Order: sequence, then structure tokens, then C-alpha cells
Amino acid sequence: MSSAYDCAHTSLPVLLDVDTGGDDALALLLAMASPALEVRGITCVAGNQRLDQVVTNTLTLLDAIEAPPVAVAAGMDRAILDAGRAPPPLHGKDGMGDLGLPAPRRTAIEAHAVEFLRRSLADAAEPLTLICLAPLTNIAMLLLMYPQIGEKIARLYVMGGAFATPGNTTPAAEFNIRCDPEAAAIVLQSGLPVTLYPLDPFRQVWFTQEEGTAMSQAGSMAASITGGIVLHYCRYFEADYALIGDAGAVAAVIDPMGATTERYPMHVELFGSATRGATVFDLRSDRQRERAGGDWTQIDVITQVDAARYRWLMASALGAEEILKE
Ligand code: BDR
Ligand code: CA
Repeated sequence: MSSAYDCAHTSLPVLLDVDTGGDDALALLLAMASPALEVRGITCVAGNQRLDQVVTNTLTLLDAIEAPPVAVAAGMDRAILDAGRAPPPLHGKDGMGDLGLPAPRRTAIEAHAVEFLRRSLADAAEPLTLICLAPLTNIAMLLLMYPQIGEKIARLYVMGGAFATPGNTTPAAEFNIRCDPEAAAIVLQSGLPVTLYPLDPFRQVWFTQEEGTAMSQAGSMAASITGGIVLHYCRYFEADYALIGDAGAVAAVIDPMGATTERYPMHVELFGSATRGATVFDLRSDRQRERAGGDWTQIDVITQVDAARYRWLMASALGAEEILKE
């Protein structure tokens, strides 16, 4: 297979918003390893873990791979409206697979994530791409506080929602959107260019337990941590494979040719007692929509991905392509 980077952008400058999070860790490992991306900063938000633990996990991971200095900023510790949710158990007690990594030496910057985002965007010569892998509270606050900053956002890639697959937090809603539905509505319905990476492609890319074991013994620290996280999820779900989750959304930024993208009007459901946090897509024909006078915001949604291509992209970025049998 030819390199997926062949068709990638050249060092696309990006900001990542995360709730690290085992699969956010995989996403960060891919983003930091990929020559296609230039990570200008990482902002943290409560989600998979409490905010302080999300920050600790992010710093721990960066130390473990001896990443070059990159700003990490703590952001919102709760949703705009909803009460805080208990961290979901699937990511382990520490939220990052309980790998026993040493405590971080590096520290977060003092600025709040929203201020860091504003400054980074305002100071950038060109609009930047945001990769959002968590509840959208930081990003919604940014857009509410600084509406003009949207001009400096090239595109928001958002892991969230469900297109034609069940939710993972309620029957209708996906975790990131359900954690903060108001924030999701503010961001996804902002009219800014959005590419949604919903649960449909999220559920299509995985490593097997055998590959996880091989990775955990591979040379690079990034591959070894990836293997450890894959094996953690295999143990938790009692499965012989584990999704790469948020890392797939990063792969879609690096290699958009590996994704099938469709454009639909979309709306975040805020009020239904059984459907709060659901992402509703208007799949009617253009004619039907016009007749009904629909005014939902159009967004791009990734409905499926080339899993083999993204598995290879991830493994090769970590220097562990030899673990793939195919
Ligand atoms: C999303 O929720 C979190 O558990 C994952 O990190 C991912 O961002 C999937 O629903
Ligand atoms: Ca996440």
C-alpha cells in the first residue's frame, strides 16, 4: 500500500481539544507522530475524566513520548447546563488505561483553554483547524465569548454524534454530545465549516488483541502505549479487538481520502426526554426539504472510512507497521 501521507496535507497546523481518555491518548499519539500535522496546542475539558485528571493524563502522555514542548491548557470543568457526569469506567481508574506511567514533569500553561484558543487563533497568520475529541464546552465558550474568532477557524473536525447507528450513552445519543448538548448545538449549528466524525466511522477501525500485544512490545514508546491501551480495552470489554476511537478522527484529518463524507442539514436535540443529545440529520430529498422550509445548518458528516487504510496510517505513524498481518 502506498503511504497515506502521500495524499495528506503538508503539516496542517491544528489545535486539539481532548478529554484524555484512552482513545484521546491514541489520537494524541497519532497527531504528535504524524508529519502531516503541526500541533500548536492541546486544550483539555472534563469528559472521560474530571478536568484535573484529563490534564494530568495529557501531560503524562506527552512526557512518556518525550514530546517537544507543546502548550496544554485546562478549560471547562463542567457542561454549560447539565450537572457533571461520573467518569465512564471503560477508560480505567485513571481514564487512560491504568498503564502506570510516571507522573508528569511538565505542567499546563496558566491561561484558561478558552483564552489560549482565542490567542492562538488570533495570532495565527492563517485560519487554523480545530480537532475536537471531547464534549464541546471549551469550543462553545470560545464562540460565545469571541464570536469574531470564527473567521480564524479553517474547519472544526468534531468526534461526536451518531449518524445511522445507536448512541453509546443513551439509545439516541453519543457521549461527547450527551455530556454537553447545549455546547454541541452552539458549535455544530454555528455555521462554521464542520466535519463530524460520528460513532459510525468511530466503530469501524480497530486493532486486534494480538496486534495490541505486538505493539506493546514494539520499539517505540508511542507504539508500546498504544498497545497497552488496546489491551486495556480488550480486557474491559472482554473482546479480542479494541477500537482506536478518537484516533480515527485524527486519521480523517490526515487522510481525508480514506473517508466517505456526505453533507446534510443537522440539528442537536435538546429537549426530548429519551433523545436529548441526539444528532438528527435531515435525509429527505432537497425538494422535500425545500417544500418544508427547513433551515437546519448543513454540515459534512463522515459516514464511513477505509478501516484498513487508517489502521495502516496509525501503525506506520507509530513505526509499528510490521505488526499488521494484512
Ligand atoms: C467519545 O466519548 C469518549 O468516551 C471518547 O473519548 C470519544 O471521544 C465516543 O463517544
Ligand atoms: Ca474523547
